[in-house]
Amino acid sequence: MQFIRLTDNYQFKTFDCGNSDLNEFLLSDAKKYAKRLLSVTYLIKDENEIIAFFSVSNDRISIKESDKAVWRKIKKEFPHSKHRSDYPAVKIGRLGVNLSHQGKHIGTHILDFVKKTFIKNNRTGCAFITVDALPSAVSFYHKNGFKFLRTSTDSVTTRDTTPMYYDLSQLLD
Ligand SMILES: CC(C)(COP(=O)(O)OP(=O)(O)OC[C@H]1O[C@@H](n2cnc3c(N)ncnc32)[C@H](O)[C@@H]1OP(=O)(O)O)[C@@H](O)C(=O)NCCC(=O)NCCS
Repeated sequence: MQFIRLTDNYQFKTFDCGNSDLNEFLLSDAKKYAKRLLSVTYLIKDENEIIAFFSVSNDRISIKESDKAVWRKIKKEFPHSKHRSDYPAVKIGRLGVNLSHQGKHIGTHILDFVKKTFIKNNRTGCAFITVDALPSAVSFYHKNGFKFLRTSTDSVTTRDTTPMYYDLSQLLD
């Protein structure tokens, strides 16, 4: 298995993770997003196929997008610093595992990789991972330690995606 950063000269064959928007993003848009500096896409592949991909961008979590109760908990993680209305984050904008490889913990390995990378090798401050989870993926992220940015059922159920976050400080020694 190889792990590579998507480059402009990469020749796609096919990819199917069961979600047509995600497939289309990878095959048609990911290179354009990279060129415009909007996101960077990584591929996990072997000689025959793309096994999984994910795209990441700079992000922030902010008081405006979260419930008061959640924000209070987040603030408590920074007891000695000045209270802020946002904190730096990295967003997993897209993540897809090839249908024939789902359920083998590849998605979990990708999340573990992102967690480690943004603690050990980040060049800028980054305290959280964020994701707008598709309904079908909420429990996958929940199992991987992600929490809800909003707790009210109202805001969770009326949206197409659910904003979730992972606090990277829990992995610090
Ligand atoms: C969601 C996705 C990325 C998960 O990747 P994966 O490699 O299949 O997931 P894993 O094998 O690492 O699963 C980890 C855990 O989450 C659970 N899980 C994974 N997908 C799930 C789902 N759709 N619904 C409920 N639970 C799920 C697994 O059962 C596993 O639980 P376990 O540890 O108790 O065995 C993958 O299924 C996928 O690409 N789906 C289509 C696209 C998508 O929804 N992407 C997310 C965009 S926000």
